[in-house]
Amino acid sequence: MKDAFLKACQGIRPSYTPVWFMRQAGRYMPEYQKIRQKYDFLTMCKTPEIAAEVTLQPVKILNVDAAILFSDILIPLEAMGLKIDFIDKGPEVSPVIRTGFDLKNLKEFDLSAVDFVFETIKILIKELDVPLIGFSASPFTLATYVIEGGSSKDFVNTKRFIFSEPQNFHRLMETLTEATTKYLIEQINAGVHAVQIFDTWAGILSPFDYGIFCKPYLEKILKQISMSVPLIYYCSNTSGLLNQIKDLEFDVFSLDWRVDIKDACFYLNYRPIQGNLDPLVLLGREDEILKRVKNVLIDGNSAKSHIFNLGHGVNINTNVDVLKKVVDFIHEFRFEEV
Ligand code: CP3
Repeated sequence: MKDAFLKACQGIRPSYTPVWFMRQAGRYMPEYQKIRQKYDFLTMCKTPEIAAEVTLQPVKILNVDAAILFSDILIPLEAMGLKIDFIDKGPEVSPVIRTGFDLKNLKEFDLSAVDFVFETIKILIKELDVPLIGFSASPFTLATYVIEGGSSKDFVNTKRFIFSEPQNFHRLMETLTEATTKYLIEQINAGVHAVQIFDTWAGILSPFDYGIFCKPYLEKILKQISMSVPLIYYCSNTSGLLNQIKDLEFDVFSLDWRVDIKDACFYLNYRPIQGNLDPLVLLGREDEILKRVKNVLIDGNSAKSHIFNLGHGVNINTNVDVLKKVVDFIHEFRFEEV
């Protein structure tokens, strides 16, 4: 198995910088669209053969150094008694949980209801020649979907819940943390080589409230996962939270593009970094793209080790050939020549 990605997770520098992309399987890719025309998104996630095939597509087509399980961060919610749906304008979750009274609608996490995830992992580890990344949302990011009922711009309901019923919000976080921990441990048992926790919405909190309502639950997960696979933490809008994030014992920190990798390295004590090209740079002119890819590689070189990625998921308008060129450029890049 190609080991550049796992080496970099462990703080060892491989001979080239490993690269994969968040949301590397998706609608920007014609091969994905072809399958997606036949099945809705949830059916694809729940059918292990299809989920495995779609996971493999970017590995074969782009030549990336890691695969990420094809699924969604909202999948575990169905195993907690909520209904999830993916419509054109984004995900929908119901019934919403906005008060302590609503908490009764959240059931104990039933691992057997997401057995298709572990089946997909078992198929993939037999077929892949690169490591497989499992994932979950952070309990806080998952909470925003449960409270808002989907995506949100201002997170009014989430903040109203936090600041009017803090104790009940903590109860919601306890339940989601327990479920997330079980879910990640079972993915590791099924064979994933690394896991990434997506904290897409932690950046809506002030550093003070991140310390109260988000961080303790990540610490709890870290304490309970004793298996030795690398744990990656992706946080969007990281820059204002670095002073909090630095205390977390993740192996790799995945950054968004709004933060300078060199500044982040200082806060994070030069631990392994993943990231952080602005995904929309990929919609630009080729020479501008490669210039910025090179900048990220050079900045990433100040960390103990670096895994190239985007600062968020691949945008639907991205051209597959551009991504292929970026992967080749990264694989061929040598620091001695700079
Ligand atoms: O990265 C991968 O290739 C693995 C699969 C993956 C998906 N979602 C597939 C998906 C992963 C890791 C996710 C994580 C996810 N899902 C996050 C965290 C990362 C981030 O992007 O911030 C979030 C917030 C979600 C919730 C979600 N799922 C939204 C907001 C949407 C709608 C917007 C969109 O881009 O379509 C989804 C749908 C979704 N998840 C699709 C895919 C491939 C599109 C489904 C389709 O084909 O219609």
